[in-house]
Amino acid sequence: MKPEIRIAKKEELPDLLALEKLCFKEETFHKKQLGYLLLKAKSLVLVASADDKIIGSMIVLLRENIMQARIYSLNVHPSYRRMGIGRSLMDTALEFLKERGFRKFTLEAGVNNTAARNLYESKSFSVDKILRSYYKNGDDALHFTKNL
Ligand SMILES: CC(C)(COP(=O)(O)OP(=O)(O)OC[C@H]1O[C@@H](n2cnc3c(N)ncnc32)[C@H](O)[C@@H]1OP(=O)(O)O)[C@@H](O)C(=O)NCCC(=O)NCCS
Repeated sequence: MKPEIRIAKKEELPDLLALEKLCFKEETFHKKQLGYLLLKAKSLVLVASADDKIIGSMIVLLRENIMQARIYSLNVHPSYRRMGIGRSLMDTALEFLKERGFRKFTLEAGVNNTAARNLYESKSFSVDKILRSYYKNGDDALHFTKNL
């Protein structure tokens, strides 16, 4: 199964919200926030689609004044994990950012989120700081960066 990785369409907002809720039970975007990111903000919103469904998504905020980008969210549907979809979304975002001259890519991941940490480390992101009690449940986060 090879999903298509492409820019999200605005009518896909409900599918993106549903996937977000499924992947992040506690800390999810609200419809308004996600709608803003999809429609108005300087952002890159990618989806992975297969079997006529959205099975993965990635939201990247683009800070063009300093040519830095930050991952806001990355989700793969639980039934489609460990098939390379997270990596494909990341590769597409990296290609997009490099083509447009972005210099730095940053993100946060929970200290206990082994899947995310392994994915980012495999893409040569490195930890530059620990963000104490970053999440609502009190968990710390690691701040990752990668020079492009
Ligand atoms: C993190 C997440 C996006 C990874 O997506 P995925 O499509 O399953 O990842 P991939 O199949 O592309 O895996 C790429 C690499 O990540 C690492 N990885 C992925 N899942 C892993 C797991 N369950 N355990 C350990 N390493 C894992 C591996 O290094 C893997 O490479 P390999 O399969 O060649 O060993 C997915 O697990 C997810 O949606 N999690 C919930 C939401 C989340 O935590 N998002 C990240 C927020 S910071």
